[in-house]
Amino acid sequence: PQQLPLQGKKVIITAGGTRERLDPVRFIGNDSSGKMGYALAEAARDLGAEVILISAKTNLSAPTGIMLISVETAAQMSQAVQAQFKTAAIVIMAAAVSDYRPKQVAKEKIKKTAVTLTLELEKTPDILATLGQNKQQQYLIGFAAETQNIAEYAQGKLTAKKANMIVANDVSNRNAGFNVSTNKVTIFRPNQGPLDLPLADKHVIAREILAQAVEDLKLN
Ligand code: PMT
Repeated sequence: PQQLPLQGKKVIITAGGTRERLDPVRFIGNDSSGKMGYALAEAARDLGAEVILISAKTNLSAPTGIMLISVETAAQMSQAVQAQFKTAAIVIMAAAVSDYRPKQVAKEKIKKTAVTLTLELEKTPDILATLGQNKQQQYLIGFAAETQNIAEYAQGKLTAKKANMIVANDVSNRNAGFNVSTNKVTIFRPNQGPLDLPLADKHVIAREILAQAVEDLKLN
């Protein structure tokens, strides 16, 4: 039988929304369900890859035949990705990573005393940008969740983060992006025109993203 295109290749995929703690019972989070990342993990597995799925908390169950690493924060996700990065062939950042986190994490539950409460936030590590700086053979795929100027912002991220591909979701479409089972994306790559994919189930989108990467890597 013919060998699968990602046989013997390690693929790292991040999924879900990170949580940044304020205190022992509260956090700053986002609406990512993990569906896009888990669909990518299944698609990569079905192409023969050794899949490492680094996931923030979701309601999804672990796909079979995949190594699942559970994390909570952007810093933990960053650490888990770095630990696997060196030997990876493809890295896909489908997670919605918090850009900011509370500067202080309260050890005890914050009490309701003052009339107003001001939170001071600091930037989290930009995982994709760091990978872009340190990449060798790795093919890097980032996502961009945009509501306007999609092409301009996606092109900007492609260059700034030194990615091989940016998958832009039009999150202004209510059947695309966060917490739905379908998506509508445009694929951006250096030296290639944008590729518009029609609205489809996230599993279909995932297979198409990987097919494009396999073609770019000349693994087919
Ligand atoms: O999980 P679902 O409900 O299925 O929804 C899927 C999704 C909308 C979350 C997904 O398709 C998606 O778009 N993920 C990225 C969302 C996002 O945070 O986009 P961004 O434009 O803020 O970030 C750009 C890229 O940098 C992303 O690949 C992100 O993972 C990465 N990033 C962002 C911040 C940070 N500190 N480190 C990062 O690596």
